[in-house]
Amino acid sequence: MKEFKRTLITTALPYANGPVHIGHLAGVYVPADIYARYMRLRGREVLMIGGSDEHGVPITIKARNEGVTPQNIVDRYHTLIRDSFREFGISFDVYGRTTSETHRRTASDFFRRLYDKGEFVEKTSMQLYDEEAGQFLADRYVTGRCPHCGAEGAYGDQCEACGTSLNATDLIDPRSALTGSVPVMRETKHFYLPLDKWQKPLEKWILEEHKEWKTNVYGQCKSWLDLGLQPRAVSRDLDWGIPVPVEGADGKVLYVWFDAPIGYISNTIDLVGDDYEKWWKDPDTRMIHFIGKDNIVFHCIVFPAMLMADGSYNLPDNVPANEFLNLEDDKISTSRNWAVWLHEYLRDFPGKQDTLRYVLTANAPETKDNNFTWRDFQARNNNELVAILGNFVNRAMVLTHKYFDGTVPEAGELTDAERGLIAEIGSLKEEMTGALETFHFREALRLAMDMARAGNKYLQETEPWKVAKTDMARTATILNTALQTCANLAIAFAPFLPFMSDKLLHMLGGTDITWDMLGCFDLVPAGAHIAQPELLFEKIEDAPIEAQIQRLADNKKANELKAWKPAEVKADCAFEDFEKLDIRVGKVLECSKVKKSKKLLQFRIDDGMGGRTILSGIAQSYDDPSVLVGREVCFVANFAPRKMMGIESQGMILSAVNPDGTLTVVSPSAEVAPGASVG
Ligand code: MF3
Ligand code: ZN
Repeated sequence: MKEFKRTLITTALPYANGPVHIGHLAGVYVPADIYARYMRLRGREVLMIGGSDEHGVPITIKARNEGVTPQNIVDRYHTLIRDSFREFGISFDVYGRTTSETHRRTASDFFRRLYDKGEFVEKTSMQLYDEEAGQFLADRYVTGRCPHCGAEGAYGDQCEACGTSLNATDLIDPRSALTGSVPVMRETKHFYLPLDKWQKPLEKWILEEHKEWKTNVYGQCKSWLDLGLQPRAVSRDLDWGIPVPVEGADGKVLYVWFDAPIGYISNTIDLVGDDYEKWWKDPDTRMIHFIGKDNIVFHCIVFPAMLMADGSYNLPDNVPANEFLNLEDDKISTSRNWAVWLHEYLRDFPGKQDTLRYVLTANAPETKDNNFTWRDFQARNNNELVAILGNFVNRAMVLTHKYFDGTVPEAGELTDAERGLIAEIGSLKEEMTGALETFHFREALRLAMDMARAGNKYLQETEPWKVAKTDMARTATILNTALQTCANLAIAFAPFLPFMSDKLLHMLGGTDITWDMLGCFDLVPAGAHIAQPELLFEKIEDAPIEAQIQRLADNKKANELKAWKPAEVKADCAFEDFEKLDIRVGKVLECSKVKKSKKLLQFRIDDGMGGRTILSGIAQSYDDPSVLVGREVCFVANFAPRKMMGIESQGMILSAVNPDGTLTVVSPSAEVAPGASVG
């Protein structure tokens, strides 16, 4: 394997059209941050680049829905997103935006260079046009059926169901996302990047030289390459974006997926100025793209083809794309508000950033889609962070205060117990290092937790609280070893739980750590004073978890209501047929649940004709049937009597069906004589 001097880490630039949620964090920003922090601990030269993606249809659609300008949208969400990441300790070296002046210039220059080299094909063709909105439809302005997998709702540039990148004209039964109308075809000129020209070099680079890429990434690349790459339009007829910087391209802007990845370059320039060439062009620099799986084609095919067309840039060395994270067994969705928003999490669980980072890493969708549940979140916090890691550190510190007044005792002669622990932490470190180097962060985190488990086992076996009654020298050795283990945990967890790590280091009286120190048992010097132990993690009770689950349930209900439409009207019915039904008003005298039946309520009705009993299957809609007593209801009076659960029902009570399937009894709007006909 080639040795590199430095590493450029890029993180997908999120669209600034809404807040960021746990899916973003789990898929891209937490893994990238773990890797960046680990590399820094190893003393390697590294930059982590982030920023907001502020062009493209996701922005203009949002602006249109809210009746504000696109600038207003990106200003609002760029700030919110940047602040959320900061609060979660995502350690970007720069967090820029694609509406910056640096970016406009960098992206224009990039396009212009390719244009001057003759790398584009200009082509006039028929494109989808919305006559009602008076504009061309591309990307997310148009949806239809995917020609590859048949999924509905595919966008004009990509099917999110199968990940295939599309041209808008490939869609089957396209519809405008603006007006819902069926688009017509209209002629327009665009600049195309001939991806077919780069087919062979891309095949050689990915399929032959990067067999080590994750199987999900390699496999997706291979299937696109096998389909054969097509020229791809990189301009659009829109008024939000970077103007195409050549003559005769009025009203055209760069396609968002052309400008956004160049944002990685622009943001590097904003950070280091002309030095950016060292990071982008020096073959001793290694570039790693952290992305979600929907971005694979753009980072492995389109952007590399752009970089190849330029000819002076490095290509990414690896693209460790993650799969998706689901929430409570359902796809995370901004439009359905089915998400845990980071800014809301920070409000609801202040100071618990590390808990979320931990759960998202322990459950990371590294090889397949994965699921976040609030119960798992609570269990991992209480059973792992509190009970294993927090508990070990707390015991070591409390015992040191109890027996040595908070002064680190001197270690004497080591026994097999110490030697075993030291060896175990040493070998866990080796395994962790291997996992971190190869982007297996879940595994690395599990190994770090195994170090804390080893610490607990050590205390359990050596029992310093018993030894202290007879042998203070031995107690000193045990607690010295336990405190050294605490320092090791602060290092091992530093890439994952940076807030906890800082706090623990602070309590131990040290600050500077490196990865090389992991495995050493002389990190906390004897004689040093340690602070009073503070709890590293708090138990999370049921109430806040239940509140989150309830919020999601309420949300689902609200969505169902929004999506609800009255049922289709049935086929025509002759008036004579209606007249055969005898509907009457009656007054409820008694109403109670039928024993052993979930569904049935038993009514005694004053029908003005001596009274009758009616059974009705609405028990699940009325927790307390007595509320119906005294109420007037409508019922069908001339159905043949029918026996249910051994009771004869003499009619049917009329109810309305609600969107959620519950039933509401229909009553007259004013007092009516029992037995009155309805018609
Ligand atoms: N905004 C895109 C998305 O959310 C990601 C852009 S990544 C970049 O899917 F490379 F273009 F910056
Ligand atoms: Zn598809």
